[in-house]
Amino acid sequence: MDVFEAIRNRRSIRQYKPDPIDNKTVEKVLEAAHWAPSWGNQQCWRFVIVRDPGIKSEIADTLNKITVDNELVENAAASSIRQAPALIVFCAEKTKAGYGVDGTPQNDKGEYWYMFDIALAMQNLSLAAHALGLGTVIVGGFNIGKVEKILGVPAGCTVVTMTPLGVPDQKGQVSPRKQLSEVIIKNKFS
Ligand SMILES: Cc1cc2nc3c(=O)[nH]c(=O)nc-3n(C[C@H](O)[C@H](O)[C@H](O)COP(=O)(O)O)c2cc1C
Repeated sequence: MDVFEAIRNRRSIRQYKPDPIDNKTVEKVLEAAHWAPSWGNQQCWRFVIVRDPGIKSEIADTLNKITVDNELVENAAASSIRQAPALIVFCAEKTKAGYGVDGTPQNDKGEYWYMFDIALAMQNLSLAAHALGLGTVIVGGFNIGKVEKILGVPAGCTVVTMTPLGVPDQKGQVSPRKQLSEVIIKNKFS
């Protein structure tokens, strides 16, 4: 699939078929995630593959209400996590992105650069999954501390985000974008 086509037609998928996905396919999309660029090529990401329905359900219980179109609503991704055969949780080693090999910050606002690297990996995974006919939805509205406990995330590492991965049971709804001209600034903010 052409990269522009994948970018334009990927949609967040919140309903999944129970159809299984084999390990090879999961590995293929994780390989795409792993080829993302990262700060100093430090590859701070760690991908947890959760297939156990009990653990998926515990994680789904940590999802918060989220704001959609200015309204506080149940996080639809909770049922997606229960339905999909796999959940990929993106964790990060905290003091890699934004830091030098000697541990010194390399940017005046460097504390959270791992979010950037994880986002790049997540976007690669989402596009690769879409190209294979699979669905994803990036999940941010959840309790990080609870998920870290459930997964036994070690000190120095944090959970950042996650996505269910599975065969879509819906055609993704198009969320319209602002006019491009609204988000482009020429030379300077005035
Ligand atoms: C950082 C981030 C966090 C998100 N968190 C959630 C979430 O908790 N639950 C959910 O249903 N969708 C979540 N989404 C998906 C967005 O709602 C979705 O990407 C957006 O509405 C655009 O739709 P599209 O992905 O179909 O283009 C999140 C997306 C991003 C990038």
